[in-house]
Parts: sequence; structure tokens; C-alpha cells
Amino acid sequence: MCRITFNGVFLLMVLQIFLVATTTGDETCESDRKMEEQCRLHNYKTVKPLLDYFRQVRNEIEQSETKEKQISELNSDLMEKYHEIVRIHETFKKEADLLNEYKNKVIKGENDLQLCQNKVDKSESEINSLKEQLTDKSTNLENCQVQLKSLNSRLIEKDENIKRLSENIKNNTEHQKTLELELEKSNSILVKHEKDIQLCRSEMNKLNTTSENIREEQKKIQLKLKESETKLIDKVKENQLCQSELDILSPTTCIPFGNNPGVHQLNVSGIGLFNVLCDSQLAGPGWIVIQQRVGGNESFDRDWATYRKGFGSFESDFFLGLEKIHRITSLQRFELYIHLVEMDGRTLNARYDDFKISDEDNGYALSLGKFNATIIKDKMRVSENMKFTTFDRDNDNDDDANCAVKFESGWWYDYCFYCHYNTPIPCLWDDWYGILNEVKMLIRPKGAMKK
Ligand SMILES: *[C@@H]1O[C@H](CO)[C@@H](O)[C@H](O)[C@H]1NC(C)=O
Ligand SMILES: *[C@@H]1O[C@H](CO)[C@@H](O)[C@H](O)[C@H]1NC(C)=O
Ligand SMILES: *[C@@H]1O[C@H](CO)[C@@H](O)[C@H](O)[C@H]1NC(C)=O
Ligand SMILES: *[C@@H]1O[C@H](CO)[C@@H](O)[C@H](O)[C@H]1NC(C)=O
Ligand SMILES: *[C@@H]1O[C@H](CO)[C@@H](O)[C@H](O)[C@H]1NC(C)=O
Repeated sequence: MCRITFNGVFLLMVLQIFLVATTTGDETCESDRKMEEQCRLHNYKTVKPLLDYFRQVRNEIEQSETKEKQISELNSDLMEKYHEIVRIHETFKKEADLLNEYKNKVIKGENDLQLCQNKVDKSESEINSLKEQLTDKSTNLENCQVQLKSLNSRLIEKDENIKRLSENIKNNTEHQKTLELELEKSNSILVKHEKDIQLCRSEMNKLNTTSENIREEQKKIQLKLKESETKLIDKVKENQLCQSELDILSPTTCIPFGNNPGVHQLNVSGIGLFNVLCDSQLAGPGWIVIQQRVGGNESFDRDWATYRKGFGSFESDFFLGLEKIHRITSLQRFELYIHLVEMDGRTLNARYDDFKISDEDNGYALSLGKFNATIIKDKMRVSENMKFTTFDRDNDNDDDANCAVKFESGWWYDYCFYCHYNTPIPCLWDDWYGILNEVKMLIRPKGAMKK
């Protein structure tokens, strides 16, 4: 029995040691659970078979005291086991020390870690502040860039402005140069003009004096002109006197015989002396009768030569002659007076204000001048500029026949006529033809009686 008690006490001691060991183990492993669990597991694994054994032993003790023998045997085993446990405990202690060491190391590491963490935090905060500063700086930089850009563009503008300005300056200098050249030119022109003006002035002065001279000269000339005029008028008067004296001495018209009608002798150059019948009763004084039909016993159906020379008698019917009429009318301007007396005694007349006939070479062509009459119409006008036609010399415009043959008389035929005073049945007026008591053609210098 004693042995068992001892054994029980011993067992309890071992258990206590175990418990202490595990408790310390718990304490040491508090900081690190992993390690603790490892520890426990380790302890447990180590101690479990022991416990089992202890239970078995107790059971055996409790069950039967008969098994004492077996127990003593077992005691020795237990001793052995105890030693084993001690050994295990020692190793366990060693391991716990190691564990402690580890733990310290871990704590130290943690501290280091904390330090590091602090350092990292500090660094982070520094970095953050740096970052903030950096963002500030970058915004500043952006602003700076924008400013730089605007400055750049302004610079470019300025550059362009400068370019333009320099071009302007260039242009202006060129313009100035050309202007200067022009100015020089203008100046030289001006100088020239001034000279010209001076020249002009002197010329003008000269001209002025000359014009004054000219004016004086003009006055003188006018005076002389007046003198000449009066002299001329005197001369003309003298001439007229001379002419009238000459006319009286050597007359070419009937004017000198005034109111002394009848047959008078004219002296016309180219022909010489010949007789004419002067009339002063029909239309005033001084008319030469160049054709007369009052008796009706004279034929006017004559040849060229006879018409050229003239024919008939001043007492009855006659034609003065183409050559004489040409010569007389070529000396001065004559008017023609046509005098007709109808069967009932009614008198008709007409005038042409510029009567003449050309020379023989031109066929004694007729010119009449302006017509003036009341009843008689200007029917002789078709004969104007016509040559004279006789039966032996056809100058008319009738291509088929000779008007002189057709109408049995010489005349200034056209094709052939409207009014004609040589034909046996002359015209009266308009388209009326008939036998007349009297036909006369007379000429007188135009305006002769106005003086
Ligand atoms: C300078 O003159 C040239 C030719 O005369 C002309 O084409 C140019 O536009 C001018 N420049 C300025 C800035 O006036
Ligand atoms: C020309 O003479 C007139 C006087 O005859 C005078 O009035 C005028 O001023 C003169 N002109 C010149 C240019 O000398
Ligand atoms: C006729 O006039 C001419 C000049 O035309 C003259 O020579 C001649 O003597 C005059 N004859 C008569 C007779 O007067
Ligand atoms: C016509 O009669 C006049 C007298 O009245 C006469 O002098 C003249 O010779 C006559 N003519 C002819 C051709 O008979
Ligand atoms: C025409 O003649 C009449 C007189 O015969 C005269 O009074 C008149 O002035 C003349 N007319 C012209 C335009 O000659």
C-alpha cells in the first residue's frame, strides 16, 4: 500500500511539473499564437501517452490491489519513464528558451518593423508633400507654358510687324528716293519754266510793244484805208463819168440814149459798130430790143449762120443775132424783159434778172437768172443752159427729131419746150398757146436805172 501512495504522490508531482511547464509555456507563447499552438501540439503529443498510461495505472490501482506485483514492475518502468520525462522536460526547457529567444527576436523585429514603418510613414508624408509641391509646380509650369505660348505668338506677331514695318520703311525710302528724284526733276522743270516764263514775259513785253505798234499801225492803215476809199469812190465816180462819156462816145447799151428811142449805133469789142433798136416806152428807158414780132411777115425758120448774124428789119420782125447778144451780155449783167400783147390788146410781161448767152463754141447756151412775173409762168426755165438749135444744127434733147424742124424756128430747145417766142404760135402763159399781136424781147443792164 505505501508504495502505491508514494507512487500517487510522485505522480501528482509530475503532473504539477507538467502543468507548470505547460503554464509557462502558455505564457511564453502568448504573443505568438502559432508558436503557442505548435508548443501545445508538441507538449500534447509528448505528454498524451503518459497520461494514458497514468489513467491505466490508476484504473489498475483502483480496480485491484492484486495487481501490486504488476505495479512494482510497472514502477520500475515508470521510473524509467520518469527519467524519460525529465529528459523530455529538459529538452522542452531548452526549446522554450529557444522559443523565448525567438520571441525576443520577433519583438525586436517588430520594433524594427515599427521603426521602419514610422520611417516609411514619414517618407510617405514627405513624398506626399513633395507630390503636392510637384503638382503646384506642374500647374505653375503649365501656366508658364501657356504664358510662354502667348508670349511666343506675340513674339511672332511682333516679328511680322517688324517685317512689315521694315518693308514699309524700305518702300518709304524707295518712295522717298523716287519722290526726291521727281522733286529734282520738278525743280529742274520749275527752273526751266521760270526761265520760260521770263522769256515769255519779255516776249510778251515785246509783243505788247509790237501790238501797240501794230495798233498804231492799224490806226494809220485805217486812216490810209479811209483815204484810199474816198479816193476810190472819187475814182469810181470819175470812172463812171468816163464810162458814160465813153458810152456816149462808144456805146455798148441803149442807156446813153435814154429817152431817145429808135435805131442807134453800138460799138462792142469783137464786133465793132452795129445798129440796135432802143426802146424807152415799154418798161422805162435804155432797153435794147433783141427780138421783135409785130408784122408777122418774117420767117423765123432760119439756119445757124443767119441766127448767128441776125435777120429781119427794125420796122417789122427781127432777131438781133446770137453773136451780138453774146458780146453785149458778156460785158455786164443784163435783165431780160418779155413783152406780149394778146389779140384783144391785153399786155403781159415777165422778167429774168441775169440774162446772157455763151459764145458760139458753147452753142450760145442760155442763162436766165431769177424769174419775176404775175400771169406768165416760168415756162422758159427748161431752156436754161440749153444750146441754140436750128434746122441745120441740132443741139436739143430730142434724140429722134430736130425740134427746130418740128416747130419751124430756131430756139434754145430742150425736149422740146414749154415757152418759145420765135415759133409762129408762141406760148402765152402756162400751157396756153396762141396768135399774138406783139412779141418783144428786150435787155437792159441790171440796176442801170437805180443810179
Ligand atoms: C511695298 O511696295 C510693293 C510694290 O510697290 C507692294 O507690292 C507692297 O505691298 C508694299 N508694301 C507695303 C507694306 O506697302
Ligand atoms: C501791255 O500794255 C498795256 C498798256 O498798253 C498794259 O496795261 C499791260 O499791262 C501791258 N502788259 C504787259 C504784259 O506788259
Ligand atoms: C470802138 O471801140 C474801140 C474800143 O473798144 C475803139 O478803139 C474804136 O475807136 C471805137 N470805134 C468808134 C467808131 O468809135
Ligand atoms: C415786112 O414788112 C415790112 C414793112 O411793114 C417791110 O419793111 C419788110 O421788108 C417786110 N419783110 C418781108 C420779108 O417782106
Ligand atoms: C418783180 O417786178 C416788179 C415790177 O415789174 C417789181 O415791183 C418787183 O419788185 C419785182 N420782184 C422781184 C422779186 O424782183
